[in-house]
Amino acid sequence: MAIEQKILDREGLQEALLGLDTPPFDLEGTLDVMEEIHALKREKRAIILGHWYMRDGVKLVADYLGDSLDLSRIARATDADIILFAGVHFMAETAKILNPGKKVLLPTLEAGCSLAESIVPADVRRLRGMYPQAAIATYINTSAAVKAETDVCVTSANARQVISKLPQHQVVFIPDQYMGANLKKELPEKEIITYDGACILHEQFTGLQIPALRARNPGLRVLSHYECDPSIIAQSDMHGGTNDMINYILRERAAAQREGKAVTFLLATECGLSSTLTSQFQQKGMPIDIVGPCHLCPYMKKVDIYNVRDALRDERLEITVVEGIRIRAYQSLQRMFELMS
Ligand code: 13P
Repeated sequence: MAIEQKILDREGLQEALLGLDTPPFDLEGTLDVMEEIHALKREKRAIILGHWYMRDGVKLVADYLGDSLDLSRIARATDADIILFAGVHFMAETAKILNPGKKVLLPTLEAGCSLAESIVPADVRRLRGMYPQAAIATYINTSAAVKAETDVCVTSANARQVISKLPQHQVVFIPDQYMGANLKKELPEKEIITYDGACILHEQFTGLQIPALRARNPGLRVLSHYECDPSIIAQSDMHGGTNDMINYILRERAAAQREGKAVTFLLATECGLSSTLTSQFQQKGMPIDIVGPCHLCPYMKKVDIYNVRDALRDERLEITVVEGIRIRAYQSLQRMFELMS
């Protein structure tokens, strides 16, 4: 369900920027950089794939917006010459694994991920030795070298479906301990062994504040990302990946409107998703009520329109994956696509 973005001219970009919660102080300078990005994309036959957690300005110059699964599918299918990943390192690496003939660029190497950094290939080999009968399933938030050691990859959008279809009873799920604990509850027929990684953003949400927030907002719906602690998942109206959250909001908002009821949403995930939804609903003249804390992913926020422009102009920082690792990591991703269908 990725969104193909309309390429806006200067006037359209200006209107969009002025509609943001915090419009840029240097409006003209920002517009100049955005127009430069559009021109570079045309000149170099490049596309920009943007994750929902990106800054608003970056999302305005992206060609597609989506979750990890959407963006990897687009990366696999595109005939563009250059893929600029407005996301974090593991996402750009996944694009390279799936479409090795393309030049894949990441605006800054500082765009990492605490989950990806929590595990290295030797850890996976150790787990393989400890659980020789088990399938090893990796969350997509890992390096190519880690994926290469695993049997199957999953994303927040398909983890439950893919793991449930594995023939093995025992499954080692790496590296997210919370997502692993959530999957354990959902798939009692499997023996799921977890690792100790965590997303530094999602682990900040706990179930503690939920009763007070519900008392203040009678129509509150709590939506939690799969990477959240089970204590908030247990009190949530839904949980899943970023796309699942968007779909839930679209459905529930329409139902509430039909019934003439008020509905408020709390999104236990990165604030970039809330800000996109707020501005997109606002633009359609249908304001949406989102409450709760605004936590930002320090890695995703390292990408901005300036390093996107520089990366496209200078064709850096190019992401490469050693072919022997790429082929094995590809097999793990390919298995995911097979088990999803
Ligand atoms: P989604 O695939 O649900 O967008 O999640 C990506 C991610 O990195 C969450 O931390």
